[in-house]
Amino acid sequence: MPKALPREMTGAELNSMLKSNVHFKSLGGMRVPGLKLSDSDLAWWRECRVGMFIHWGLYSILGRGEWVRFAEKLPYHQYEALAGQFDPQDFCTDEWMDAARDLGAKYAVMVTRHHDGFALWDSAGSWNRFDSMHAKAHRDFVKEFTDSCRKYGMRRGYYYSPMDWRFPGYFDPEHLTSNALIMKQQCYRQVEELVTRYGAPDILWYDGGWLAHKGSDTSSAWFWEPDRLNSMVRSYAPKAVINPRSGWEGDFYCDEGSAEISGNIITVPWEKNLCLCSGASWGWMENDPVQPLSWLIRMLVNVICRDGNILWNIAPNRNGKLSGEVHARIKEFGAWIRENGEAIYGTRGGPVEPVDGVFGTVFNKNTVYVHILDGKRFSGMAIGPFPGRVLSVQRMDGQDVKYTIADGMLRVDLSGIAFGTDTILRLTLDREITPVVSDVYFTGK
Ligand code: GLC
Repeated sequence: MPKALPREMTGAELNSMLKSNVHFKSLGGMRVPGLKLSDSDLAWWRECRVGMFIHWGLYSILGRGEWVRFAEKLPYHQYEALAGQFDPQDFCTDEWMDAARDLGAKYAVMVTRHHDGFALWDSAGSWNRFDSMHAKAHRDFVKEFTDSCRKYGMRRGYYYSPMDWRFPGYFDPEHLTSNALIMKQQCYRQVEELVTRYGAPDILWYDGGWLAHKGSDTSSAWFWEPDRLNSMVRSYAPKAVINPRSGWEGDFYCDEGSAEISGNIITVPWEKNLCLCSGASWGWMENDPVQPLSWLIRMLVNVICRDGNILWNIAPNRNGKLSGEVHARIKEFGAWIRENGEAIYGTRGGPVEPVDGVFGTVFNKNTVYVHILDGKRFSGMAIGPFPGRVLSVQRMDGQDVKYTIADGMLRVDLSGIAFGTDTILRLTLDREITPVVSDVYFTGK
């Protein structure tokens, strides 16, 4: 039976559904239902919940962010000459895997080519062969990254930016059309290389499908033809999870940046991507302050309780290394995640709507985990209703917690509990919970 088309939802309806500051990028992407993965194909991605993003390239040499070339209007040859210095010393991509493992990430997404056009693999499709094999390093870092992912059992994603500042046609596709078309051809060739050369990736993560830094990825779809591009991708990587940033609606939604997440559970697949550091830049900056542990924990809790994944960005320096401070925070965060893993991995957001800043819930089969962010405000609150009878309430160490149920609402006696940044309770229900999934298409209007 042909699949029914999803219900359309406008921006106003979306906002009223989310009741939050979540801002999805690339709404209204081109619809090609045949390209979208099914819920079951997405299941592994949802179960991961935590991923690690890696922004590393020529810009890491300068240490002023990945937009440095554009922001400082660096002349073409000056920037291109950085390739002659690009040669990380004493570096192996296994180090990124160690960081991902320490962080508790289950997938890693590497920036394989940012807006500056510099490819981190041996790319025959690169215009002017602007790639790491033709830089001082003479190395294929995408291959190295891929091998490391395999070795560590880490799911693997490639970030790729269709746009490339080296092309004047990018800035004026209507008048400099033939130049813009060379950029487009490069995109098709490079994406094809990425999805064929190293085995099909688990994730393809586009960014920057817009034109002349105007409009949106969606409004530039006439140029990139993302339906054609992603049909090609699907022919090689039928099950890759693809984000929405190519102008096609994609398999999940993206919220970008360090703004807090609030509001209701989001019943479509989505991912928050943000930096472990200040967020002033995604690429290496020498003294970029790392976020406090409590901030990282709250962000994670707020995302998973609204049924999202979180993708933490790291910004290695020119030698591929992280600062000691970032390393230390990754280890602290990972230790916390490991200790509380059962209340994170493999869970789905809900079943109870979160209360901003106070608590949220996730579940796995018949177990519900209540993540309490503000113990004081939570104490005495009636929470629910639950889709089943509550059989027990425990702390994570297994100790029973007293509770009462009235009119289907639960009140927990938290006296004697010392609250942390996130205090977790484990509830057992008498039946399994089924996740709520909406089949909607956000029109972007
Ligand atoms: C933005 C930035 C880009 C960064 C990306 C990560 O689109 O322009 O530099 O790579 O966010 O999501």
